[in-house]
Parts: sequence; C-alpha cells; structure tokens
Amino acid sequence: MSEKKDLNIGLVGYGFMGRTHSNAYCKVSNFFDLEYRPRLKAVCGRSEDNAKAFAAQWGYESVETDWKALVARDDIDAIDICTPNNTHAEIAIAAAKAGKMILCEKPLSMNTAEGEEMVKKIEEAGVANTVWYNYRRVPAVTLAKQLIDEGRLGKIFHYRANFLQDWTISTDLPQGGAALWRLDVNAAGSGVTGDLLAHCIDTAIWLNGGITDVSAMTETFIKERMHNLTGKVEKVGIDDACTFMCHFGNGSLGLFESTRYARGHKALYTLEINGEHASIRWDLHDLHRLEYFDHRDDSLVRGWRSVHVTDGDMPYMDKWWVPGLQIGYEHTFVHQVADFLEGLAKGQPTSPTFAEALETQKVCDAVLSSAASKQWVNV
Ligand SMILES: NC(=O)c1ccc[n+]([C@@H]2O[C@H](COP(=O)([O-])OP(=O)(O)OC[C@H]3O[C@@H](n4cnc5c(N)ncnc54)[C@H](O)[C@@H]3O)[C@@H](O)[C@H]2O)c1
Repeated sequence: MSEKKDLNIGLVGYGFMGRTHSNAYCKVSNFFDLEYRPRLKAVCGRSEDNAKAFAAQWGYESVETDWKALVARDDIDAIDICTPNNTHAEIAIAAAKAGKMILCEKPLSMNTAEGEEMVKKIEEAGVANTVWYNYRRVPAVTLAKQLIDEGRLGKIFHYRANFLQDWTISTDLPQGGAALWRLDVNAAGSGVTGDLLAHCIDTAIWLNGGITDVSAMTETFIKERMHNLTGKVEKVGIDDACTFMCHFGNGSLGLFESTRYARGHKALYTLEINGEHASIRWDLHDLHRLEYFDHRDDSLVRGWRSVHVTDGDMPYMDKWWVPGLQIGYEHTFVHQVADFLEGLAKGQPTSPTFAEALETQKVCDAVLSSAASKQWVNV
C-alpha cells in the first residue's frame, strides 16, 4: 500500500498510558501496512513544561495545557484519553460533540449511569470509538478466543481469573494526586474492581459471553490515609481487594479475585477456562505462552502443552519477527491501534467499543453493589 492518510492524534495525559499509546502510534506503521498512519499532532497536559518535554521525547508536533483547547482544534482527528477515570466522561462527550474519533482508556467511566450517557452521546455523534482493554490483543489471549470459538473446548464449565498486586500494603502510602489517584475514590470510582477486575471481566465477556449475576465481597484493609490534595487524613473509599463469583449466560460458573495486598505479586493476571473437552490457561507474567490440555489426545502423551505463541499463523505474529521470537506488553497497544486503523479503513467498529465496554462497567457496578448488600445481584 503506498499512499497513506494521516490520522491526527491529540493525546490527553502523558503518564503511564500516555507513553504506551505514544509508543504504539510510533511503531504501528512500521509493522502494519495500513491505509491510515497516526500522526502525533498534539499532547495535552496541565504542566506546559512537562508537556513540552514529553512532546520532545516522543515527537509530538505541539502541546496544549487544556484538553478543551485540544478538542476545539480543527487539525485533530482523534482524541486519546489517558487521564484518570473521573475525567473520561467529560472529555469523551466533548470530543464526540466536536466530531472527533475517541480512543478512551479503561474503565470506560466512574459508574454505569455515566457510561450510559457516554455511549448515548458517542452514538449520537456517530464517531469511531474504542476502549483500551488491551489484554484482548495479547496474541496468546487472542489465540484462546480463536480456540474457544472453534469449539475446541466444547461446553464451558468454569472461568477463573485473578489480578494480584502488592503495592498498597504500607499504611504510610498517601491517597490522591499524581501517581496515587487510584487510591482516591473520587478520581478512580472504585479500587481493584474498576482498575484490575475490569480487565478480567472484559476478557471474560469476550471469551465466554455475558455475565448474568454476581455475589461479591470487598475489603478496605487500610481505612484512612493522608490525602495528598487536602493534607488531611481521610477515609479511604476504594476497595483494596475484591472476590466475586458469578454465572455466565452460557451456564458456566465464574470465580474472580483481585487485590493489591498479595505480597510478592506485581501484576499477576491469570485466567483459566475449563471445558468439556479441553482447558486453557494463561499468565501475564509469561504472556507469550498459552497452556492447553486436550482430553481427546492419546492418553499415553496426554498432558498440558505450553504453546509458544510466536508462529506466523498465530494472531498478529506474522507482523513481527520470525517464529520463536516473542513480543511483549507494549505490542498489545500497537495491535489495538492497528485494529482501530483497519476498522477505520473498512468502516467497521473496533472492539471493545464504548457500548461493549459499558457491559464491563455494569458487571463492576453489580459487583460493588453485591459486596455492599451481601446479596446476589443481577447484572
Ligand atoms: N489499559 C491498561 O492496561 C491500563 C493501565 C494503566 C492505566 N490505565 C488507565 O489509563 C488511565 C490513566 O492511567 P495512568 O496509569 O496512565 O495514570 P498516570 O497517573 O500515569 O497518568 C495520568 C495522566 O493524566 C494527567 N492528567 C490528569 N488530569 C488531567 C487533566 N484534567 N488534563 C490533562 N491531563 C490530566 C496527569 O498529569 C498524567 O499525565 C486511567 O483511566 C487508568 O485506569 C489502563
């Protein structure tokens, strides 16, 4: 493909996700031959000095210090929202009104009501949109989807997922402000439920279909922390840990656990699916492998296989190196950009859209509501 069309990106927020997305925009056209090519038009951050430094490092052509000014610019095609959760709705709705495409970080919103409003406004505007549930685009996870859709597992009985971390155990850790907004319920909406389980739920719905009802428990182990924005010790409003069980629409049972108090674990996202004929398991710490057990194998050699997902016929892998050489975390974002650009060329939506990400939001809300009421809650 020769003639490329520029897609002018306006990035809001230059933290962790601002970096992963910028890297993806820089790499995608080198590895994927697509009609559209992202152009790093502008980055927006509240500190002009930091925004300029980020722009120089990553190659953005200009900076803004107010996202409203970015959204108002005629030379921006797509707004990429990489800011804390409490800003997603306002920025996305304004961007939709301005006719911009939107790539929004997860979770979609602070809660279901806010998410519904976002979906309504985005659909009214008819703009292309996607939410960065990037784990769908780990090649091993995409391969799991392929194997399930081919029916290799047969009827699914169990879906199990964990997302474990250990970075908030210290009682001295403050809440709020830069880097620690995740501990402030007013910025994050919830704790591990919206931050970590949202990923597990998105992958689960994608692989195994909708969740119908949930029974959850949450705990806030450290009840008060100093708040960076007020300088006062304040109540902690987030869930530090959450465990829930659920039914899926296909009749299978789900079990999910997430915590930031699992000493020794930094980002242990694991999932396992057990079907009538076969089982699958995957582990983020070894993300290029998919483990597979098939009961139909000859019993003398039957056992768990560790599939090294690097061959050219495996999802996305023909775009990278040669069989045997693996890729990593940052590539999941490159894949999402590639799929978005391809969808744009074909006039097709890129999953998960805002409407699809709203389903995850509804499950998160049901989980929090069940934990509060100690009752089963329908999604
Ligand atoms: N897909 C994933 O795996 C993944 C991983 C991490 C974070 N996230 C999500 O990405 C979002 C950002 O998280 P992060 O880890 O990058 O956070 P971060 O704290 O590293 O970065 C947030 C950025 O937003 C900026 N910001 C805050 N308010 C702003 C405003 N009003 N205008 C402009 N800039 C503003 C901050 O200055 C900072 O640059 C969150 O919604 C989070 O849930 C997703």
